[in-house]
Amino acid sequence: MTESRFDIKKISLSDAEFEKLRDLVFKVSGISLAETKKELVVSRFTKRVKALKLQNFSEYYDLLVSPSGFSEVQNFINSITTNKTDFFREAHHFDFLVNTFIPQVISSGRRIVRIWSAACSTGEEPYTIAMVMAKHLVEPYNIPVKILATDIDTNVLKTAVRGVYESGVLNTVPEEYMKKYFLRGKGDSLGLFKIKDDIKQMVTFKQLNFIAPEYPVTSTFDIIFCRNVIIYFNPETKRMVVNRLFRYLNDGGYIMMGHSETLFNMIDGLVYLKNTIYQKKMYNSGPEN
Ligand SMILES: C[S@@+](CC[C@H](N)C(=O)[O-])C[C@H]1O[C@@H](n2cnc3c(N)ncnc32)[C@H](O)[C@@H]1O
Repeated sequence: MTESRFDIKKISLSDAEFEKLRDLVFKVSGISLAETKKELVVSRFTKRVKALKLQNFSEYYDLLVSPSGFSEVQNFINSITTNKTDFFREAHHFDFLVNTFIPQVISSGRRIVRIWSAACSTGEEPYTIAMVMAKHLVEPYNIPVKILATDIDTNVLKTAVRGVYESGVLNTVPEEYMKKYFLRGKGDSLGLFKIKDDIKQMVTFKQLNFIAPEYPVTSTFDIIFCRNVIIYFNPETKRMVVNRLFRYLNDGGYIMMGHSETLFNMIDGLVYLKNTIYQKKMYNSGPEN
């Protein structure tokens, strides 16, 4: 959800309506909302109720579960996701790319690297990966890097594909990266910065819902970034999602988690290295969806 949530008069939400919407959020996205999140539900969905000229949340729920409400479900999902992200967020993961992963790629003689930014939000994470890999691997060693970036939320994916950011969003980008990989907007685009095409071309964006029965993913990966998303899931969904992601990881590959997320005791065959970085043991086969 990217727009302001505070500019619209709120509609009251009964406990029964809250329960129904909460169940539906879980069913379509896997996101588990605590019982304390009633206010959040009001603030996230009021705008949709008003936009559709409905009277209350019961009408909104009835629409969502009716055949004619099918197309509203994506707006419903987009409204409830939390998309906070940053360029170079949790920077130790990018230091790990430079100091550990890239030297391993070079010494192994590998000819291509594949990385998945699962839950990529507005693109800051996959573009950070792309810039770091471009500077330290693609340009000096001519080894191509392909990045898959996925998210459930179609609004954030549109922003990500556009690759245009306001200067305030770029505070965490080191100066040398700004100079090398961004174009400064002029005229009507003053104050905006566009990620350069060479970096953009390294990233493929796709919509992917972690709880969908099938993932539109055919490759396996050397690294999967799955940061700051499983915190929104209950223990069972967490386990299911990370076990599925694990099958897309090459032997010896890494999974990067967010600062408050642990995979402790969740997957056999995954070893904790350091700083929320896990490594797949050197055995096992490719994906079985
Ligand atoms: C807080 S952001 C994290 C972004 C980035 N990984 C980072 O750490 O900066 C969480 C993202 O997870 C996405 N998300 C939530 N539920 C999802 C699901 N079921 N499938 C795929 N993505 C989901 C949200 O849309 C949101 O963009």
